[in-house]
Amino acid sequence: MYPNAIFVGFALVSTTVAQTPYGLTWNFNSSNFFDNFNFVEAPDSAFTNGFAKYVSQDKAESNGLATIADSKVRLGVDTTNNYAASSTGRESVRLQSRESFDNGLLVADFAHIPVSGCGMWPAFWIYQGETSSSYSEIDIIENVNGESRNSHSFYTSEKCTVNRVIPDVSERTEDCTYDREPGQGCSYMAHEGTFNQGFNDNYSIVATQIESDGIKIWYFNEDEVPEDLRWDNPAPQDWSVEPSLHITPDDCDFDRAWRLFHIVINITFCGGWAGDIGGVWNNPGTLGEKSCAAQTGQVSCKAWVGENPGDFEDTYFEFNSIKLFQRS
Ligand SMILES: *[C@@H]1O[C@H](CO)[C@@H](O)[C@H](O)[C@H]1NC(C)=O
Ligand SMILES: *[C@@H]1O[C@H](CO)[C@@H](O)[C@H](O)[C@H]1NC(C)=O
Ligand SMILES: *[C@@H]1O[C@H](CO)[C@@H](O)[C@H](O)[C@H]1NC(C)=O
Repeated sequence: MYPNAIFVGFALVSTTVAQTPYGLTWNFNSSNFFDNFNFVEAPDSAFTNGFAKYVSQDKAESNGLATIADSKVRLGVDTTNNYAASSTGRESVRLQSRESFDNGLLVADFAHIPVSGCGMWPAFWIYQGETSSSYSEIDIIENVNGESRNSHSFYTSEKCTVNRVIPDVSERTEDCTYDREPGQGCSYMAHEGTFNQGFNDNYSIVATQIESDGIKIWYFNEDEVPEDLRWDNPAPQDWSVEPSLHITPDDCDFDRAWRLFHIVINITFCGGWAGDIGGVWNNPGTLGEKSCAAQTGQVSCKAWVGENPGDFEDTYFEFNSIKLFQRS
């Protein structure tokens, strides 16, 4: 008995210390942000049928769509010009990180996320779509119009079902496989106050942990940021704040399903989600708010977005930094 007990005790100790600590791999901030991202020049109609025209870095910098001030990186949309509903759409930006990563802890420190009434569809997300043989996508900040909860969607070309630990509701199935039924995947609504102005009032940091045993997403307000994270030495297993989302593998190899991620930041308008054709323009919000058609008195999303530049002055992302931590 005695030797066994000692052995068991020893084994427990060695498993708890076995986890290699996270080290800082990327630190994108005002000093190097644009060196680490490409601006993708294209109409959003090439991607999601949105009413946005993504401009080049030169144009974004000269028009004030991409700026650096007070150690913050600001990415926004044109707030002065009008656009015909028949045009490509409002000028905006789409940035994609040059490098990719497979796993780790991605920590985005936001000074601001986009806010607006109607028509906007911003996204801060990670994906790999460069090779046709596989696909992975995790949406970290995304929703439309006046919604107040952030929507996290997961897509992979691998056969992949997951267990939902947190939250206790999901919009779609626990089958994250993308090509089983095109457009499907799994999707989870974060808690109230995680999108639009509610986020800006309360939060600054969103941390996404992707490892073979699970994916977690935390929201931190200024007072809650763990001390170890402030010092670039995060130990998420010790954090006292519960994640807002936690999924674990059911029938899924997470190392194969979730990998080769590029960070993408884009803001579009209308399109397949926010718009009036196939989108939610005519539907009430998820908490029962008036539809955008009812709020604006405009049946066409494109007409509203095209004619109301001043409405999008708060439709911008502002970053303090984006950091990636990995176990060596
Ligand atoms: C910004 O990132 C660079 C490069 O990673 C780093 O050396 C610098 O300390 C960072 N600046 C701030 C204010 O954190
Ligand atoms: C951003 O671009 C991707 C295509 O790469 C598209 O699927 C997505 O809907 C776009 N989202 C926004 C908010 O522009
Ligand atoms: C702010 O965030 C905290 C911690 O996540 C949460 O408990 C609180 O309800 C939030 N307040 C608002 C107004 O959303």
